[in-house]
Amino acid sequence: MLHLKLPTEPQWVEMVERGNLEEILTDHAYCEQKAASSCISIIQSYPDFEKVVEVLTPVVIEEWQHFARVHAELKKRGLKLGMQRKDAYVNELLKWKRKGASRKESLIDKLLICALIEARSCERFKLLWQGLKDEELKSFYYDLMVSEAGHYVNFIELAREIGGRAQVDKRWQELLYYEIDVLQKIPPTHNKIH
Ligand SMILES: [Fe+2]
Ligand SMILES: [Fe+2]
Repeated sequence: MLHLKLPTEPQWVEMVERGNLEEILTDHAYCEQKAASSCISIIQSYPDFEKVVEVLTPVVIEEWQHFARVHAELKKRGLKLGMQRKDAYVNELLKWKRKGASRKESLIDKLLICALIEARSCERFKLLWQGLKDEELKSFYYDLMVSEAGHYVNFIELAREIGGRAQVDKRWQELLYYEIDVLQKIPPTHNKIH
């Protein structure tokens, strides 16, 4: 359903399990924060696209609820939210946006990048749900997997409605191939959600 071109290696879950849970949950919390922030910023830039405001407003609320849930998981374990670290994956994806594009084209590119981040999160949450030993974290990641899958569909459908299905699907395929290069640039020791 997600159409990702390069699956995350199954060993990635072991790497997460071996890693520092405080850092992993902190990174995850900021992924949720960034998801909420980017929806807010798209709404601020495109209030004249009514559908954008309508579709993305509930996504902001859900992403912030995810942030709160990750924070609660940290607290429950006596861990603390740390500082945000650089997100190489997202920074590289943002370079894919067309330069000198029309306002509408820029909006489509932003929506597709959001869709891809959702799809990749959803894929990795599924691996965590299936592979983690901690029962509480397993069910936590199951819920998030379902929610991010819904967001992925929201972004793709919104982009298609604004930009036309054929053109958007073509651009989406380009982004899926671009992501392969992005993933290959990130060191294999990378255990972040993104
Ligand atoms: Fe989320
Ligand atoms: Fe999401």
